[in-house]
Amino acid sequence: MVLVRGNSWELTLAPRLRAEVSAHTRAPWPLADRGASWALDQSGPAEFHHVPVLLEAVLEALRPAPGASLIDATVGGGGHALALLRAAQPGGRLLGIDADPAALATAHARLTAAGLPPGSFVLHHGRFADLRAIATARGFDAVDAVLLDLGVSSHQLDTPRRGFSFSAEGPLDMRLDPTGGPTAADLVNQLGERELADLIYRYGEERASRRIARLIVERRRQAPITTTADLANLVLRAVGRGGRERIHPATRTFQALRIAVNRELEQLEAALPQAVELLRPGGRLAVISFHSLEDRIVKQFFRAESGYGGSAGERPPRLTIITRKPIEADPAEVAANPRARSARLRVAERRA
Ligand SMILES: C[S@@+](CC[C@H](N)C(=O)[O-])C[C@H]1O[C@@H](n2cnc3c(N)ncnc32)[C@H](O)[C@@H]1O
Repeated sequence: MVLVRGNSWELTLAPRLRAEVSAHTRAPWPLADRGASWALDQSGPAEFHHVPVLLEAVLEALRPAPGASLIDATVGGGGHALALLRAAQPGGRLLGIDADPAALATAHARLTAAGLPPGSFVLHHGRFADLRAIATARGFDAVDAVLLDLGVSSHQLDTPRRGFSFSAEGPLDMRLDPTGGPTAADLVNQLGERELADLIYRYGEERASRRIARLIVERRRQAPITTTADLANLVLRAVGRGGRERIHPATRTFQALRIAVNRELEQLEAALPQAVELLRPGGRLAVISFHSLEDRIVKQFFRAESGYGGSAGERPPRLTIITRKPIEADPAEVAANPRARSARLRVAERRA
């Protein structure tokens, strides 16, 4: 069974497709292809764990009214989607998009178990750079709210075989969509030293990028770098333990590779204008980012689209900024969910 990119499934097709998705999420697809021998992670939707960040703030910002049409372009485990869709009853509808079939399976199970009205949600496997085409094809071409909760879920991060984390050994994969595209191992073993250094510097803001790239190239001459532990140890050798650093020395290199593998910044830059086009006047766009590179893109886009400094160009401004400063999690939320520490929520409203 192969789920092709762009495939989607709906509530009405649940039994057959749930079986398909379940088979898919349990299959060792990238690993078998690559001849790796990792123990399979058998976790399915029931074990998926991800606490939605800034949930109250998102609900307040997007204010879903009964009958609202909503898009969650990063539906993940469905935490935000469920709360938004509940608030939009009766009559509300939601389109949930995700690059990761495992996330969609979880969102599907969660929204189904919540007993929402049949047909009130549609889930779609795809990337949010294709937002307009997906939304139009699914009948969501004029909506009241779009949410982008960027990056990876806790579940993706904590599943060793997905290869996102240096704290557990796994294949150096890092693809949000494991059904295709180059892995982190492909980049690490194939890019030239200069390209690698630039990538680690630009996306990881890592000052030791040249040293790390040099060591990677030296090491891969002996054997390809294939695991998260291989790479983490190499970075540690290149930069040392860094006395006062709060974070693991490999954090920035891993972030850089993840951004590059998934083309995260390009995806965001492509999605933002499409989200604006899909909004009805008065509709709202909310974006939660987790690092400064993403937040800068959102901030600059909102400014340009709201006519800030006359930068909207020829056309009249399309957005009003609702959050002058990004909303951050309060200490209680950070204590309960450390991942919320770096979350920044920005919201804008579509003008007439
Ligand atoms: C932080 S999680 C979202 C969690 C979700 N809000 C919830 O409450 O469970 C981010 C999700 O976005 C997905 N994602 C990231 N970039 C994407 C892209 N370009 N296109 C589609 N999905 C993407 C990831 O696979 C992940 O499931």
